[in-house]
Amino acid sequence: MSISELLQTTTLPEKYRHLSVEEMERQIRAIKDALGDELFIPGHHYQKDEVIQFADVAGDSLQLAQLCEKNTKAKHIVFCGVHFMAETADMLTTDHQAVYLPDMRAGCSMADMADIYQTEAAWPVLQQIFGDTILPLTYVNSTAAIKAFVGKNGGACVTSSNAKKMVAWAFTQKKRIFFLPDQHLGRNTAFDLGIPLDAMAVWNPQTNSLETDQDPENIRVILWKGHCSVHEGFSVAQIEHVRKTHPTMRVIVHPECSREVVAASDDAGSTKYIIDQIEAAPANTQWAIGTEMNLVNRLIAEHPDKKIISLNPYMCPCLTMNRIDLAHLLWSLDSIVAGTPQNQITVDAKTTQDAKLALTRMLERA
Ligand code: 13P
Ligand code: SF4
Repeated sequence: MSISELLQTTTLPEKYRHLSVEEMERQIRAIKDALGDELFIPGHHYQKDEVIQFADVAGDSLQLAQLCEKNTKAKHIVFCGVHFMAETADMLTTDHQAVYLPDMRAGCSMADMADIYQTEAAWPVLQQIFGDTILPLTYVNSTAAIKAFVGKNGGACVTSSNAKKMVAWAFTQKKRIFFLPDQHLGRNTAFDLGIPLDAMAVWNPQTNSLETDQDPENIRVILWKGHCSVHEGFSVAQIEHVRKTHPTMRVIVHPECSREVVAASDDAGSTKYIIDQIEAAPANTQWAIGTEMNLVNRLIAEHPDKKIISLNPYMCPCLTMNRIDLAHLLWSLDSIVAGTPQNQITVDAKTTQDAKLALTRMLERA
């Protein structure tokens, strides 16, 4: 396919740019009613309200993976989230089910920080330094190819909801872990399990080398040098500002934030953990939340009895999550109805087979 043909099939057709919100909502509702159980729309909590209102389920990455695996009825899964989540859904569903991503530009900048070529280049160097003592673990925010690499090498996937459990399990298998691609989730999780910071070293995929002045013998955790551009935007200075302006406010952040930010906060946990804490909190409690903006704004709207602010009110939302909007959702559904579905996400059989080893090791323990 030529680049112009590819652009034509992956770019929103002009006509959707001229529809009113009401018209798009009406058409989406009509298609959902017509397709019934044949259609399943999972939506990640970071999606916009205009999209999440049409999700059959809203969840974090672990919940959505579990729900896609469970749903064997839907022929069409329109995934409102980002690319790695749609890939995971494709690998966990059956061959008669198809997964679509309404906008192909909905990637994840963190997942893009690790590619399979860099990973395959890193592994022999690490084996040379540490011998056969390392188990690879990958955050689900990674490509299917990296999940397959991890699966083939005895390792597992993790999500922010089960990272502690999975890292603890990994240490029952091998002396060391190689954690891709989010250095912050890896560091925060290992630290919570009692591993000192000086027993962790960063792997730089640009230089294909370990950044440490420690004796390698003391290293237990090797952290891929990747991060989330949204969560890395939270800072200790913002927490200090909240402490000054709202002294009784609790600060809760996602573990994709830096170690310093997590240490300065009152609490840290996955997207689901944050939602659960806010839901369980008594009325009139005060919260500053360090996670993606769409979710924080939704929590503010859903809990008028609590005072909730974003830890950084000027932060950007996750730009790739926000690629999915009403127009792209409607286009995706229209194309299914017309029998010419757009933006199907497929992972080849060999990659799926190996990646499922890593996914299954996680899902069995989740
Ligand atoms: P969760 O595992 O909390 O859903 O996080 C996914 C994600 O992309 C967070 O940035
Ligand atoms: Fe990726 Fe960060 Fe966006 Fe999550 S919030 S999808 S990790 S860029």
